[in-house]
Amino acid sequence: MLTRPPAEIGMPLEAVDTPALLLDLEAFERNLRHLADAIADQPVRLRPHAKTHKCPMIARRQMALGAVGVCCQKVSEAEAMVYGGVSNILVSNEVVGAPKLHRLAALAQQAQMYVCADQAQNVADLNDVALAYNVQLAVLVEVNVGANRCGVEPGNPALGLAQQIDTAPGLRFAGLQAYHGGAQHIRDFQQRREAIATAVESVHHTRNILQQHGLECELVTGAGTGTYPFEAASHVYNELQAGSYVFMDADYAKNLAADSTPWHEFEHSLFIYATVMSRPNNEWAVVDAGLKALSVDSGLPLVYGAAGVEYSRASDEHGKLVFHDASHPLRVGDKIRLIPGHCDPTVNLYDWYVGIRNQRVEALWPITARGALL
Ligand SMILES: Cc1ncc(COP(=O)(O)O)c(C=O)c1O
Repeated sequence: MLTRPPAEIGMPLEAVDTPALLLDLEAFERNLRHLADAIADQPVRLRPHAKTHKCPMIARRQMALGAVGVCCQKVSEAEAMVYGGVSNILVSNEVVGAPKLHRLAALAQQAQMYVCADQAQNVADLNDVALAYNVQLAVLVEVNVGANRCGVEPGNPALGLAQQIDTAPGLRFAGLQAYHGGAQHIRDFQQRREAIATAVESVHHTRNILQQHGLECELVTGAGTGTYPFEAASHVYNELQAGSYVFMDADYAKNLAADSTPWHEFEHSLFIYATVMSRPNNEWAVVDAGLKALSVDSGLPLVYGAAGVEYSRASDEHGKLVFHDASHPLRVGDKIRLIPGHCDPTVNLYDWYVGIRNQRVEALWPITARGALL
């Protein structure tokens, strides 16, 4: 159930109720175009990750600029995308357990669905449900390329699973999922590049072994915002899964560019709009955005456009700001923007994007996959 939006179309930004999730539409549109242009000459397609924005209206804008579809992490996220008009989805994850498998197969009756597997029993279960629903599921083998999360080891373990998928009557072997999550936030550019070079080598090796056994990979997919140029130029990956590039959170802003300067390839477009609710003294103030309004797993938010103010502590409904200068003019009732530390879990706390342009509300987009955990 969606809650009441904190704004109305056309109202000035200052009138938006808080806490609210603001989307600077101009910065957001520039981010979308930048990635589309950056890979236009590369032999890769973009299949951005919808786990970041959880919003079909954003997915459709990405597809209008050339994305082939989206990735989802959860079946229920994929349902929200299909209901919102997206018809080509990779669940870049393992789907385990009867309820989810049934929902996945039901989705495959309406949309092109791809899913990952890293275990023989799961492949057998995917096959059973595909046959029961009279669909053919496209299955990728997930390979561990250094993230040490899900995935079989590259080489022969991947081959064994791919062969099982290939001979299962309800399944179609569709390629390799090789996402290196651990590399995305390596701050140093060279180290980031090296981590992906190692991943590319093992994916290349695995793809060759599969080819020698007559198995072609339709998709070789991975990459996030932090490493996409490397996978794009690899001639091994043919799809990219970047998600956070649409918003660019404070944590990603700590990555460094090739010349070791701060990495400014994408712009901050996502903000938490908050109101100062208390200024008990000269040293600090309190805003109405705490742990229930922003995620702090990747660090505290940054205060946007306000020098000398730091967000220093979050409790459930309160955020404490400290001032470097006791005469800072921020008063009760003033509103500020915060750049979230981590965009994905922050988005998951809201029902609406409040899209702003020229200091006015232009759009209200429902975050229909919010809370889609199943
Ligand atoms: C499987 C997978 N692909 C792609 C991404 C997108 O990465 P990013 O948001 O860093 O661009 C993630 C993020 O965690 C992921 O888990």
